[in-house]
Amino acid sequence: MKKALITGISGQDGSYLTEYLLELGYEVHGTVRRSSIAENQDSRLYAIKQTPLGKNLYTYYADMTDEHSLYSVISKVMPDEIYNLAAMSHVRVSFDVPAFTIKTNALGVLNVLEIARNIVPNAKIYQASSSEMFGNSVNKDGSQSLLTPMTPVSPYGCAKVMGFNLARHYRAAYNMHVCNGILFNHESPRRGTNFVTNKVVTTAVKIKLGLVNKLELGNMDSSRDWGHSKDYVRAMHMILNHEVPDDFIVATGKTYTVRDLCKIVFNKLDLNYKDYVVQNPKYMRPEELKYLKGDASKIKNTLGWKPDYTFESMIEEMIDYAIKK
Ligand code: GDD
Repeated sequence: MKKALITGISGQDGSYLTEYLLELGYEVHGTVRRSSIAENQDSRLYAIKQTPLGKNLYTYYADMTDEHSLYSVISKVMPDEIYNLAAMSHVRVSFDVPAFTIKTNALGVLNVLEIARNIVPNAKIYQASSSEMFGNSVNKDGSQSLLTPMTPVSPYGCAKVMGFNLARHYRAAYNMHVCNGILFNHESPRRGTNFVTNKVVTTAVKIKLGLVNKLELGNMDSSRDWGHSKDYVRAMHMILNHEVPDDFIVATGKTYTVRDLCKIVFNKLDLNYKDYVVQNPKYMRPEELKYLKGDASKIKNTLGWKPDYTFESMIEEMIDYAIKK
């Protein structure tokens, strides 16, 4: 049985990746960061824990900034594969807690790589890199590719650039199997409700049910390339198991503005977003990444990856889930 270790196992991607790997026959281990609300700590894993595959799932408390905790887990598990997903993942919040973001998202990567180099140098390592690293760089054809300059516009983006470079450095310097997946935005019913897709979906559903009467947003003109987390965790596994450690972009190649998102979600509920959406400066960022549209041709051509979901089918799944909830 192959052993996988997922840092940040309780997040959206961690939970889908756990299900995917358990179904493939892996023993899955994961780190969870302690928070004061006990119910939140691994709520996305409850369902899979109740199934027969749940017996192959193990979680541990650890923190990316606490190298002792990481050492303890990695030396106990001795994983064949490490998926480094743990991060302070909210871009706007990274402006409020910049040092914490850098310590977690940049130095945390160093902690994992350095511990792996010493204890499990042959483990395959996946680093969760992000389209936020590109900042406002756009190629002439209107996309971001592996050659697009990285000019991050947030503490989160700056930290992710460091993580990305550390992953490449450990691959080159120590001949370790370390890969980067540069994932564009990816969503699902499990997305936190403070990210824009699920904020729009859950609030629109509450408006439809008469529970609230407005949706407060920040910048509605920024564009994002939104895919589904389930499709993207499949890509993570493909990237890691390619015979050569390498870097890949995972994206849909389609882009929508936040305004388009609102229009589509409210339309599906027979509502007009203009009647409910108001702007609140509280949700604006000191510097905004304006436009993302990823060029995923390398992963499509080299690994044969393609998404199962469309933007519309993903939004419908999120709306159905929010209504049931
Ligand atoms: N969260 C949020 N809340 N975003 C809003 C709001 C709001 O009320 N109003 C407008 N937006 C805009 C943001 O300014 C941004 O342009 C866009 O909606 C998307 O914001 P998020 O959903 O918070 O995602 P993100 O693009 O900042 O970051 C996500 O994608 C990255 C990959 O590019 C996160 O998942 C990151 O962890 C990930 O790396």
